[in-house]
Amino acid sequence: MRTAEWDVTVKKVVLSTDPVFRIDGKLAVGYAARRFGPGIRKVVSNAAESLTTPLLPDNYLELVNPLWSRRQMWGRIETVQPETVDAATLVIRPGLGWTEHQAGQHVRLGVDVDGVRYWRTYSLSSPPERQDGRISVTVKATPDGLVSRYLVHRVTAGTVVRLEGPRGEFVLPPAPPPRLLFLTAGSGITPVMSMLRGLVRRGQLPDLVLVHSAPTPRDVIFGAELRGLAARLPKLRLHEHHTRTRTDDGRYTGRLTVAALPVICPDWTERWAWACGPTGLLDDAEASWQRAGLADRLRVERFQPAVRRGGVGGRVRFVRSGREANADGDTPLLVVGENAGVLMPSGCRMGICRSCVVRLTAGRVRDLRTGLEHGDEGELVQTCVSAAAGDVEIDL
Ligand SMILES: Cc1cc2nc3c(=O)[nH]c(=O)nc-3n(C[C@H](O)[C@H](O)[C@H](O)COP(=O)(O)OP(=O)(O)OC[C@H]3O[C@@H](n4cnc5c(N)ncnc54)[C@H](O)[C@@H]3O)c2cc1C
Ligand code: FES
Repeated sequence: MRTAEWDVTVKKVVLSTDPVFRIDGKLAVGYAARRFGPGIRKVVSNAAESLTTPLLPDNYLELVNPLWSRRQMWGRIETVQPETVDAATLVIRPGLGWTEHQAGQHVRLGVDVDGVRYWRTYSLSSPPERQDGRISVTVKATPDGLVSRYLVHRVTAGTVVRLEGPRGEFVLPPAPPPRLLFLTAGSGITPVMSMLRGLVRRGQLPDLVLVHSAPTPRDVIFGAELRGLAARLPKLRLHEHHTRTRTDDGRYTGRLTVAALPVICPDWTERWAWACGPTGLLDDAEASWQRAGLADRLRVERFQPAVRRGGVGGRVRFVRSGREANADGDTPLLVVGENAGVLMPSGCRMGICRSCVVRLTAGRVRDLRTGLEHGDEGELVQTCVSAAAGDVEIDL
């Protein structure tokens, strides 16, 4: 028989029906939270471990409810809320290990689609400090997107997903600048929505101009909420740009460009700006702020890496899995491998997290962000931002 005993002073015990809740204003994770003296968590955990060996308590907890696991962080999708025809908000209850996010940060989701786990990154659209401890991400289905289409059109409430994060530098300073500009398009509204909701909730909304682009009014993610806030809050000015509406001469309005900013927001050079949207808009914004000598006033969040095209490509051999494929010079090795049926490790898919790093056993690759070729035998390469520069062999 195994026994364990401990002697502790408990200051307060709170039981909750939810795994994430607040105790004395602080975020607590677990169905019971205690305000203990130091070190008690470790004592309890060691005692539980000694009682359940050879399995760890976590193994039992994970079987009962994955959200109780301390080994891996999980979340349960509680609602799937359609936003537009091709976008939906997933409200997720995070399990143990979740720490409060800052508005603008993102989370990595591990999603099982037809028996295979894929990792994708999504900005949190919920503000920090939600009283119920839930978080949300808002996903726009890309036309041939594997995970985004699954999350928007197929996933159901109750589905459990892996979580990692929160992470990211696309955040506001603790005291927001007195004049702000948010420049967004499509799903790029998501991190900014978390910021806006947080500012409104805390009563810290500065003078804010939000310029957002979408094909039509019905395609504006959070459209009703944004219009409601703009009508209610004099400090918030919302400008919607609809690319698929027609001008007086019958043509489509077309893409939002920074050249239109002086008309939409005449004092744009005096504002601190946060921009998120497609590559073209963000490249345009960076170049414009640079030309105006204001590069330090612009923060940008990219959902895809800016890619330099024009590589030669070659034959790619995945040595251990015995698979081969022809690759053009602009397709990431990650995508080449996935299309060839190789189980490729991945994360952000844009050169940030290094989850996709693999060993090059022969040949050279081209960095899609810089256009520079490199590659020595044994070198570790990021497959999400590297393309074949001639024939290559990869240790996978
Ligand atoms: C920091 C960060 C935050 C993000 N936040 C969000 C968010 O809040 N909401 C959201 O919907 N997405 C967000 N994304 C994008 C998301 O991670 C996925 O890239 C996107 O959902 C597509 O995944 P998929 O599996 O459907 O597409 P895949 O099957 O991987 O790709 C299918 C096709 O879509 C193209 N593609 C891939 N990503 C994009 C993209 N972002 N835009 C247009 N085409 C693309 C690929 O080139 C490919 O041709 C974020 C990405 C990053 C790096
Ligand atoms: S998947 Fe994140 S760096 Fe490649």
